[in-house]
Amino acid sequence: MRVTVTAGDPLSTATDLLVLGLWEEESLPSPLDDLIEPGDWSGKAKQTLLIYPRGALPARRVLLIGLGKRLAPDLDQMREVAAIATQRARELKVDRFAFGIPVLSEQTPETVAAAITEGSLLGSYRFLEYKSDLKPEDRREVDELTLLAPVDAVDEAARGIACGGAVARGVNLARDLANLPPNDLTPARLAERARELAVAFDLPITVLGPAEMREQGFGGILAVGQGSVNEPRFIVIDYGAQYADVPTICLAGKGMTFDSGGISIKPAENMDAMKMDMSGAAAVLGALHAIAELRLPLHVVALIGAAENMPGGSAYRPGDILKTLSGKMIEVLNTDAEGRIVLADVLTYAQRYHPSAIIDLATLTGAISVALGPHAIGLFANDDALAQRLVRAGEAAGERVWQLPLWQPYREMVKSEIADVRNATGRQAGAITAAAFLNAFVGDYPWAHLDIAGTAWTDSKPKAYQPKGATGVGVRLLLQALRDWTQA
Ligand code: BES
Ligand code: MN
Ligand code: ZN
Repeated sequence: MRVTVTAGDPLSTATDLLVLGLWEEESLPSPLDDLIEPGDWSGKAKQTLLIYPRGALPARRVLLIGLGKRLAPDLDQMREVAAIATQRARELKVDRFAFGIPVLSEQTPETVAAAITEGSLLGSYRFLEYKSDLKPEDRREVDELTLLAPVDAVDEAARGIACGGAVARGVNLARDLANLPPNDLTPARLAERARELAVAFDLPITVLGPAEMREQGFGGILAVGQGSVNEPRFIVIDYGAQYADVPTICLAGKGMTFDSGGISIKPAENMDAMKMDMSGAAAVLGALHAIAELRLPLHVVALIGAAENMPGGSAYRPGDILKTLSGKMIEVLNTDAEGRIVLADVLTYAQRYHPSAIIDLATLTGAISVALGPHAIGLFANDDALAQRLVRAGEAAGERVWQLPLWQPYREMVKSEIADVRNATGRQAGAITAAAFLNAFVGDYPWAHLDIAGTAWTDSKPKAYQPKGATGVGVRLLLQALRDWTQA
């Protein structure tokens, strides 16, 4: 779907479908007030009412949509409203529709247009690749959404559309990758998808296979991947190296294309969900897509450790001691705590860029979902300024982030008796000890770890712009944080 903006007054716009957002306190503009029974409309948030003006207006249909109380204008509400409107437009089988941009106090036309664009594109996301019996009309999408803005707000709105559009396309790419089944998205396939992205934006990419990784000493990724016939990959895409005097930011993603648990195998129930264990990698690629589309003036290095954790005859085992890329030795106590082992190598490699920040995203622990549920990303950091950036960006982007501690006693918990660190520590403080383990591999670089295990997947449909399945969480957060960074 294309999103465009044009100057115009909604009530005098000719269109197949005009969407009009109205506040609860707002009375219906004429002539709409004559076309409905007053009791049928309240303006409550997300209420909808379809009206056929039959010549009383140039629009053929008008969809009223409630914005709720004017006192609480909220960008997430705009995303919701836009998603609902777009879904109705698809049901009505219109090719294009128009949406009058509401004025939100404390928000600019740019941010409102961005939120509408995001909501609309995120809300029209569907994963239909594996539906073989759909009729072409079931696959049809709306062609175009035209935002109607006052003439002096058109340029600002256009900037919002570009930004919101890039972010939403990044989120939907991340959703696609995480929704793909593990037989079709192996580590090699994930690397191919990364290569397609790199080629599309003309970015240098490096993909290492097992032979190169062995030569260079990636003992963590190799061990985790050795139980599967689908060989591991290490992927690096370098964006913006040409910019002078900009910060270098490393984005590291856990790319477990399937996590059976390995020899410490998981129970059968819900094991299928572990196809999403590459959601960190998906978020990194989705973010990079948006960063490249927006040409953000930053040096961003995307680094992904991709592997499949399987219990094959050559699998790594509890008791193994692994020499990682850093030289540090990991005592393996549980092969299901594999993400931190893969990330150990990725975080070590990231230091080669002498970055201003390393941010990793990983579906790392079930414990983070016990702690925070599906409503917040777990944040761990060795740098307060970086942590604050991410918390603030999370508020603005509508992807909440909550920081947990990394005090010294937690770091003690990951020490090993016979090696340097151990990869499992028992049931207590599971999300924190996983982060404390990662902390041992970042050196002195400012680093933040985002545990998205509770937020990367949903079995319900929590919002109109969030269908069941992969959420693409992390992309909006990263884009907000990085755009803020370019302004500071
Ligand atoms: N990929 C899982 C974590 C996970 C759980 C992601 C639920 C998404 C939903 C991770 O590799 C894992 O298995 N973690 C273990 C660690 C434990 C063995 C120390 C866990 O959380 O139970
Ligand atoms: Mn695991
Ligand atoms: Zn995992």
